Amino acid sequence: GTAQIGVTGLAVMGRNLARNFARHGYTVAVHNRSYAKTESLVTEHGSDGEFIPAKSMADFVASLERPRKVVVMVKAGGPTDAVIDELIPLLEEGDIVVDAGNAHFPDTIRREAALKEHGLHFVGTGVSGGEEGALNGPSIMPGGTPESYKSLGPILEDISAKVDGVPCCTYVGSDGAGHFVKMVHNGIEYADMQLIAEAYDLLRQGLGATAAEIGEIFAQWNTGDLESFLIEITADVLQHVDAETGKAFVDIVLDQAEQKGTGRWTVQNGLDVGVPITGIAEATFARSLSGSVPQRTAGRAALPAHAQEWEVSKDDASRAAFIEDVRLALYASKVVAYSQGFDQIAAAAAEYDWAIDRGAMARIWRGGCIIRARFLNRITEAYERDQDLPLLLADPYFTDAVASGLPAWRRIVAGAAQNGVPAPAFSSSLSYYDGVRAERLPAALVQAQRDFFGAHTYKRVDREGTFHTEWSGDRTEAEA
Ligand code: 6PG
Repeated sequence: GTAQIGVTGLAVMGRNLARNFARHGYTVAVHNRSYAKTESLVTEHGSDGEFIPAKSMADFVASLERPRKVVVMVKAGGPTDAVIDELIPLLEEGDIVVDAGNAHFPDTIRREAALKEHGLHFVGTGVSGGEEGALNGPSIMPGGTPESYKSLGPILEDISAKVDGVPCCTYVGSDGAGHFVKMVHNGIEYADMQLIAEAYDLLRQGLGATAAEIGEIFAQWNTGDLESFLIEITADVLQHVDAETGKAFVDIVLDQAEQKGTGRWTVQNGLDVGVPITGIAEATFARSLSGSVPQRTAGRAALPAHAQEWEVSKDDASRAAFIEDVRLALYASKVVAYSQGFDQIAAAAAEYDWAIDRGAMARIWRGGCIIRARFLNRITEAYERDQDLPLLLADPYFTDAVASGLPAWRRIVAGAAQNGVPAPAFSSSLSYYDGVRAERLPAALVQAQRDFFGAHTYKRVDREGTFHTEWSGDRTEAEA
């Protein structure tokens, strides 16, 4: 065979990845279950470079140079397993199967182990950036063996996004590490989106501003610390007008947010590894609440607000101060969500035995992906200062950045509560901040309660050991 890389599964993501490889000078073997898609790719985009279209999986495999590199870009779950099963008997020792879909990382761990039995490398790879990224440069998060990265890595780095000439692709860690990191990326994406949505809602209700006016505020924010893809597209979306009704586009969209599962997986894993990823969890639950139609109908009909009417003075200075408060609260909440996500990566790395460089993850997220942002440079720098940093929030840069916005953050969360505006991600992030910095937590009382009703024991602040108090008897304490 003469193709340097192959792509099977030519729906929009696979198609665009194949074109991206071709545009970078690679000869690309292409295959799809129905040949029509393969044919249309070659007829419509043949000018991108060299494609070798194959009708059968066997021809596809035969057209590849060894060690073969096969990118599988089909639906996660059953369809991915089916393609892998079809590939195994056709491949030879040392060949590399790349799953570039949004697989759940435990599936990737399982598949990697199974393919190893056949002498094959299985590389679960996170790819972010949607259709546009796949074609013009995504952020790429490959797992699998370091050995597979030697031949595959340079090709992936080549087609990835670049920031300051640095590829947004690096080896993440063994087996499921790549898909794990992509999952956390998506969890952070949920948190980022929810925080932006809450900021929008606060501005709308606090200022009584129109969607388009708020779009302008976001466009302004995009020139500072908050500069990011998600802020940029928010500005665009808010200024868009529905052609049919002439209303702000955001006002004609049904307010029920959907999800395909990566946010839920992130939250489930947060519980598994015991890391409080409250920002991501609130964002995921906020989507669930929005879709809880019967509950919302009942709540709307029955629940009083007993809230104040939000009153931001009409003068320009008060309005500007309020806008700045929301901006600072958004930035601080965003730092919390990222800090928690990076904690989760560290905890999972310990649990699943991955050597993940968190600074490098922030670096490869600077471009190509949905959460790309100026701010990620700061995270890379923080982990460069201390690669074992236990709390991103406690890095001096972030400590200062958040501290200077703290009064604003408190005003906004208090204002939201007083005025009856839901701001779950803003407020739970502030609670996390106050919790993680607290000298003493009421967890002491929880321990005492547990010992009272279940003899679950407790530790003391003043000496070593584990203790139990005879709550139902004479209340003497004994070492357990
Ligand atoms: C990306 C995105 C992408 C994801 C969508 C949809 O990094 O390019 O994360 O992988 O599929 O954002 O996610 P939800 O449907 O769950 O919102």
